[in-house]
Amino acid sequence: MSEIVLRNITKSYGSHTAIPGLDLDIPKGSFVTLLGPSGCGKTTTLRVIAGLEQATTGEVSLGGKTVYSSRTGTFVPPERRGLGFIFQSYALWPNMKVDRNITLALSEAKQSPPVIKERLAEALAKVQLTGLADRYPSELSGGQQQRVAVARLIAARNSILLMDEPLSNLDAKLRTEMRTELKRLHRELEATTVYVTHDQVEALTMSDIIVVMKDGIIQQQGSPYEIYHDPANLFVAEFIGDPKINLLDGVLATVAGEHVIRFEGMEIPVAAGLERAEGPVTLAIRPENISIVERPGPASLPAEVDIVQPTGSQTIISLSVKGHRITALIPRFETSLPKKSIWIDFPADRLSFFDKGTGQRIPLKGPALEASHAA
Ligand SMILES: Nc1ncnc2c1ncn2[C@@H]1O[C@H](COP(=O)(O)OP(=O)(O)O)[C@@H](O)[C@H]1O
Ligand SMILES: [Mg+2]
Repeated sequence: MSEIVLRNITKSYGSHTAIPGLDLDIPKGSFVTLLGPSGCGKTTTLRVIAGLEQATTGEVSLGGKTVYSSRTGTFVPPERRGLGFIFQSYALWPNMKVDRNITLALSEAKQSPPVIKERLAEALAKVQLTGLADRYPSELSGGQQQRVAVARLIAARNSILLMDEPLSNLDAKLRTEMRTELKRLHRELEATTVYVTHDQVEALTMSDIIVVMKDGIIQQQGSPYEIYHDPANLFVAEFIGDPKINLLDGVLATVAGEHVIRFEGMEIPVAAGLERAEGPVTLAIRPENISIVERPGPASLPAEVDIVQPTGSQTIISLSVKGHRITALIPRFETSLPKKSIWIDFPADRLSFFDKGTGQRIPLKGPALEASHAA
């Protein structure tokens, strides 16, 4: 069942259209991430769900109840939508101690003092801040302040949580830790969560469903697996993955009954079943699907090594193939490779192809070949 439903939402600021028409269904209990570059409309969408922003047209319903409809003139204000928020700036009240920051909403909702006390203790324990209830926000580190914001959510027990780039002010190490904690929090609270980020790693690591946006338009919606392995278009393919996916322009052809892609005078075999057999396309291959070999196989390309960058468990290798830059990622620590005359290889079923004009992925023929992965 969908807990959050957006229907044909549009949002304009003056003559600028931030959201030209958006439909979204968010299943109850799921962790859904809105992902995309700055300015693509993530925050606007979240604020429309929250009621902090009124859409120009469309409908929003939460838990089956219409909270906004441009048709009927319905608008339920944010405080009556039963939502919890965390924003980029933690928005704690600087003049209130930690305990008051956490329990303010509970006392305003006229919860009894024993209930408030119990929820406060439970929330502080969950975020490991027991003992700091008596401090002011300015007496806490950035990470601790963020935890107070999380504790406030835990105490409020809302069935919907909205988070807008909550980790972007934290340093890298803390960000990784908080990712784990937010994921655990979601598992424990079972609250329907909408999370906004421009960080693809956050999206891949935490989400049940990723919604990739560009210019206010949903580009693709799917599991992290689908978004990573079966990107719907070149925008999604390039936005997800670090190091970035490799793109090469080539021409599909059939040679002696075999499907190949022609690239720089070479012919690379293509797995059978592509919906298109001829014509110019963009070929895409993820860096981790490229292997470096000493002897050429039937699908190998000659390459020269440019830069070798070990990161610990993996090594990023920048290569040149007939003047085209290619990045490979190998699963071991490597400090040097012979500069010339190596070969790269990749499994034919790891190549994907995109229409050069529209950027849309060219699918495989027939149904459900890929659906089996998604299950
Ligand atoms: N209050 C506002 N007034 C005018 N334009 C706005 C306002 N808020 C957002 N926008 C514009 O709407 C678009 C989407 O913004 P936003 O939702 O904040 O993007 P994101 O969160 O993905 O970075 C951007 O072009 C932004 O400049
Ligand atoms: Mg934003």
